[in-house]
Amino acid sequence: MTDLIIRNARLPDGRSNIDIAIADGRIFALAPRLPLTANAELDVAGNLVTPPFVDAHFHMDAVLSYGIPRVNQSGTLLEGIALWGELKPQLTQDAWIKRALRYCDWAVARGLLAIRSHVDICDDRLLAVEALLEVRRQVAPYLDLQLVAFPQDGLLRSPTAMDNFRRAIGMGVDVVGGIPHFERTMAEGAESVRLLCEFASAKGLRVDMHCDESDDPLSRHIETLAFHTQRLGLQGRVAGSHLTSMHSMDNYYVSKLLPLIREAGVAVIANPLINITLQGRHDSYPKRRGMTRVPELIAAGIDVAFGHDCVLDPWYSLGSGDMLEVAQMGLHVAQMTGQQAMQQCFAAVTDVSARILGLEGYGLEPGCFADLVVLDAGSVIEALRLRSARRYVLRRGQIISQAPAPHAQLSLPGRSGIVDFRI
Ligand code: FE2
Repeated sequence: MTDLIIRNARLPDGRSNIDIAIADGRIFALAPRLPLTANAELDVAGNLVTPPFVDAHFHMDAVLSYGIPRVNQSGTLLEGIALWGELKPQLTQDAWIKRALRYCDWAVARGLLAIRSHVDICDDRLLAVEALLEVRRQVAPYLDLQLVAFPQDGLLRSPTAMDNFRRAIGMGVDVVGGIPHFERTMAEGAESVRLLCEFASAKGLRVDMHCDESDDPLSRHIETLAFHTQRLGLQGRVAGSHLTSMHSMDNYYVSKLLPLIREAGVAVIANPLINITLQGRHDSYPKRRGMTRVPELIAAGIDVAFGHDCVLDPWYSLGSGDMLEVAQMGLHVAQMTGQQAMQQCFAAVTDVSARILGLEGYGLEPGCFADLVVLDAGSVIEALRLRSARRYVLRRGQIISQAPAPHAQLSLPGRSGIVDFRI
């Protein structure tokens, strides 16, 4: 006897009429029409069932702070960083925890059950670190929160960042972060990458650096990150986030760079909502899009995930925790409109993100955690098109969120009924 059987599911790979049996919080069996009984059954009527969404790049310490103390007038990354510097001293730990927990509620309702969040360690009080460690503890039953020690003001540029960084890792922050393009010189940027990779190697930690988030085609810290990853044997544990300068790089140089990233086993995390907003702000027309070269990276055999990056904060005035919105924007910006390319965009907010975070027990195989999302869609592509409702969200086999299918009732001359956008 199993705890729950989900009947009549469609899977992301297109298989249909699949039953998923769940026991002790894990997937026990998954096959067409399972001849099993259970304490409870959930017939999902052909709807898409996927593992949960995973956000590989977020800033939970800044979430829901939009407009405090003012809005970003220029819309640039640099004004956003300056604004964040104004805001930090005003924030209290209680406010940090409250805003983060509120966002985690939004995330759960969106089927987003794992988030890698950077946390700024440049405030000597480390209040944000303490706050997000407390949030990580509180949400652990329903959401995997991974924290990255992020020296927002520069590891070498900010006088106390190195010491704060070590303290944050000692307090339990999971991942080594960095921001080489914000150091004073290219040489100091490269030095910060070396120091951080050696630190991660010594401590056995993963690395995820903001890297080359710039329109400057000569910002090439990803090359240094790939070099030290290979030198120190960190393959599979390192990610470069943003990499927007690659958009503007010379094609010949990129043809050398992509194999280096591939050989080093460095993953890439693009942030389409934010980079289409922040990049190219110094351009007249034509304006560059600024997102890194997603289809080319994937074609080179490199893992590429999409992150949400920001929601209602100094850098971004919109957002709601919906990774389908993120994937849809990535799809548009990268012109990934082919069938396989759209599947890759979905994977960039699910399977690939999970692999980059190193999540245990993620997936749709027997033995995986029964962490599942039932979408009001018949396929991955329909889910992307409609940003479908998350009808049920399950964590360890328990329903933790549910929502009705959205319906509009038409009243037209001579015709009325329900609008159904599904094909
Ligand atoms: Fe970021």
